[in-house]
Amino acid sequence: MPPIYIGQVKVDPPILQAPMAGYTNYAYRQMVREFGGAGLQATEMVNASGFAWLHEHEAEHPDRLWGVKEEARPLAVQMWDNDPATLAKVGERLANELHVSVVDINFGCPVKDVTEKAHSGSYLLKFPDRIAQIVERVVKACAPTPVTAKIRLGCSRDAINAIEIAKVVESAGAAALTVHGRTAADFFRGTADWNRIAEIKPHLKKIPLIGNGDLDSPEKVIEAFRRYGVDGVMIARASMGRPWLFRQAAAALRGEPVPPDPTAEEQRLTMLRHYELTCARFGEQKGTLLMRKFACNYATGRPGARTFRAMVANVFTREDFFNVVERYFPREEPHDVDIPPHVYK
Ligand SMILES: Cc1cc2nc3c(=O)[nH]c(=O)nc-3n(C[C@H](O)[C@H](O)[C@H](O)COP(=O)(O)O)c2cc1C
Repeated sequence: MPPIYIGQVKVDPPILQAPMAGYTNYAYRQMVREFGGAGLQATEMVNASGFAWLHEHEAEHPDRLWGVKEEARPLAVQMWDNDPATLAKVGERLANELHVSVVDINFGCPVKDVTEKAHSGSYLLKFPDRIAQIVERVVKACAPTPVTAKIRLGCSRDAINAIEIAKVVESAGAAALTVHGRTAADFFRGTADWNRIAEIKPHLKKIPLIGNGDLDSPEKVIEAFRRYGVDGVMIARASMGRPWLFRQAAAALRGEPVPPDPTAEEQRLTMLRHYELTCARFGEQKGTLLMRKFACNYATGRPGARTFRAMVANVFTREDFFNVVERYFPREEPHDVDIPPHVYK
């Protein structure tokens, strides 16, 4: 599968790591980077108004930009808002001060705080003219750094307008479009509609189409390219506790044997490195709390995961964390462990 170009940025392989608020921070991105296979990685979405305020009042960057300055490229930063001027101002800083590779704009978030309260994210799918204005302003402000958009199919099943939005986004100067094959009203229910994603392809004349939704194996990645004709794919949830999934999908795309999952011991060490990076940034107390959900993700689907999840949900200190990992993190073979009664309190 040939690489794709987002403006001048080569995305090779054309497998992208999705932005996920609360998850795709610097520590997670490092784990993905160590395994390899993601042609472009993305931060969590950043609120442009909040960014602008922090910059003016505190001369600081939001926590969600942790690591961005020093991190390897290519790297996309995603932002959301509904005001073209604010988005342009923040985009310009991301491009020219932080030198990110790609500035991505969120038009897909279905969360009420973003849609109903802030009239942003997927709310804007109802307003193609506004999307056009936003993309145009941001493209101009960020040039020559490429600007991309991430959308859903529409606001709801009876208001699917992804083709119209795709054309608007392309005409406004965006360098790529990512489509999550659900509507905002779907949230994460049902399955992503890849036929609808495929229908968009003939309407994009110049820019790559990146398909997203429910890709959780190398086989599904191959199928997305072969059957639905997308130029690139984006993986989100399935990679939460499996940062090696990109490497496996990339091998499959090259027609090579898919590397096996890391051993349980390697997975444990990956999680512990993830923990150390997180605590180095947030301190032991906050870092440990933050790592609970990541630790659960690493255990998902493995024998003993339930017990591990129950135990790790109660850790507060580094010592607790390491003890629980040592005792309960799933091993290769199912193993019986005693569950202290307080866990189910
Ligand atoms: C916890 C969580 C946070 C997310 N945050 C973002 C975000 O910040 N920006 C965005 O564009 N999409 C976000 N998404 C959507 C994903 O990027 C992706 O479009 C969606 O999960 C479908 O892909 P998947 O089936 O591979 O998970 C988020 C999804 C999840 C589960």
